[in-house]
Amino acid sequence: MKKAIIAGTSIEQIIDKPFKTYRTDYGEVDAALDGSFVFILRHRIGHTAAPHLINYMANAALLEHFEVDHVITTHAVGSITERLLPTNIGLVSDFIEFTFSRPFTFFDGVKRPLRHVPMNDVFDDELRFQVIRASVERNLRISPALTYITTNGPRLESKAEIRAYRSWGADVVGMTLNPEVNLIHELGIKLCSICFSINWAAGLDEEGISFIEGESRKKLTSRVLDIAIDALKNS
Ligand code: HPA
Repeated sequence: MKKAIIAGTSIEQIIDKPFKTYRTDYGEVDAALDGSFVFILRHRIGHTAAPHLINYMANAALLEHFEVDHVITTHAVGSITERLLPTNIGLVSDFIEFTFSRPFTFFDGVKRPLRHVPMNDVFDDELRFQVIRASVERNLRISPALTYITTNGPRLESKAEIRAYRSWGADVVGMTLNPEVNLIHELGIKLCSICFSINWAAGLDEEGISFIEGESRKKLTSRVLDIAIDALKNS
C-alpha cells in the first residue's frame, strides 16, 4: 500500500524525484514517486492549472490506481477567525463547499453507480492524531479543528463575502479543499487535510490583502510537508 500527499506548487522545488505525467480514466496528473510515497502536484507542473480548472477527479483516480490507503492534502488559506493566525498551521475538521462548475462526484450513475456518500466523517481521526503528534514533536502549535470554506476563485473574496462566511462558521478560506476531499472520501481512502495561513482574508487587515511570500512561505510549506511525511510514516 502507498501513502500520498497532494500539495501546491511549492513541493515541485522540495521533492528531489522527477515529476512525471500519468494518465487516468479521468485525465492527466503530474506526480513523483519516492519509495512508498506518491506526491501529486495539484496545480500541475509549472502551476498551470487555476483552482477551478484543477482535475480533482484525475488526482483522486491516481490514488486509486496506486492503491493509496492514506493521503494528506495541504492547502494555503486566508484566515477568517483567530482560530488560525497567518503563519500558523491547522487541521481541517469540517468544510463548506461553495464552488461551481467543478466535476465533484464519482457516483453520479454514469461511469459508476449513483450513491449518496455521507460527508460527516471525511477526516480520519487516527491520521489527524498522527499530524498533531508530528507537530508537537517539532514544538509547533497546530490548530486542531478548523472549518474551511472553499470558494471558486481564482479571484479573492469581497469584504462582505468574508463577513458572510464568518457568520456561517468558517475559520479559513481557500480554493482547493473541495471537491478534492469529497472525491477522495468517496473512494474510501483515509485522509486528512493540513492548512497553513498566508494572509488575513478580505477586510480583516487594515493594510489590505498581504500574502506571506518568499523565504517565510517556503519555510512554512516545507514544515507542513515534513509534518505530513512524518504522520504518514506512522499510519
Ligand atoms: N482567499 C481564498 N483563497 C486563499 C486565500 C484567501 O484569502 N489565501 C490563500 N488562499
